[in-house]
Amino acid sequence: MEFFENEFTNDEVKLSPNDIGFGDLIVDQKYRRRGIGTALVHERIRLARERQASAVYTTIWESSPSRLIYQKLPFLPLLRTGPCYADGSAALDVVMRL
Ligand SMILES: CC(C)(COP(=O)(O)OP(=O)(O)OC[C@H]1O[C@@H](n2cnc3c(N)ncnc32)[C@H](O)[C@@H]1OP(=O)(O)O)[C@@H](O)C(=O)NCCC(=O)NCCS
Repeated sequence: MEFFENEFTNDEVKLSPNDIGFGDLIVDQKYRRRGIGTALVHERIRLARERQASAVYTTIWESSPSRLIYQKLPFLPLLRTGPCYADGSAALDVVMRL
């Protein structure tokens, strides 16, 4: 288990109950690399802002290309655990302040 140093691991900054966790992100294979995954994440962020969340977080499969979508925003890595998936890759908890 590996913790990353960033604002969210600081004791002064904690996730609050109205912050929102995102579930799985999956785009049909036929429609990938057209910006749909990115658009879905942006829409989730818009909805979270609408609901007054101050941060959003999710767990990503480290070897998935979704990691690049979250990195670009940027979501910050918080915790890495694993191996968690069949290919031996880790799970990465990531978080972004809104
Ligand atoms: C991850 C996933 C949702 C991405 O959806 P998508 O609609 O293809 O994503 P986008 O088109 O918005 O891609 C955004 C960027 O991610 C990166 N990316 C996406 N797929 C990639 C791939 N196969 N290889 C390398 N980079 C990739 C690129 O940087 C891409 O930007 P670009 O096309 O301008 O270069 C889709 O690949 C998927 O459903 N995968 C299987 C399920 C999965 O891994 N879910 C995440 C679990 S944590």
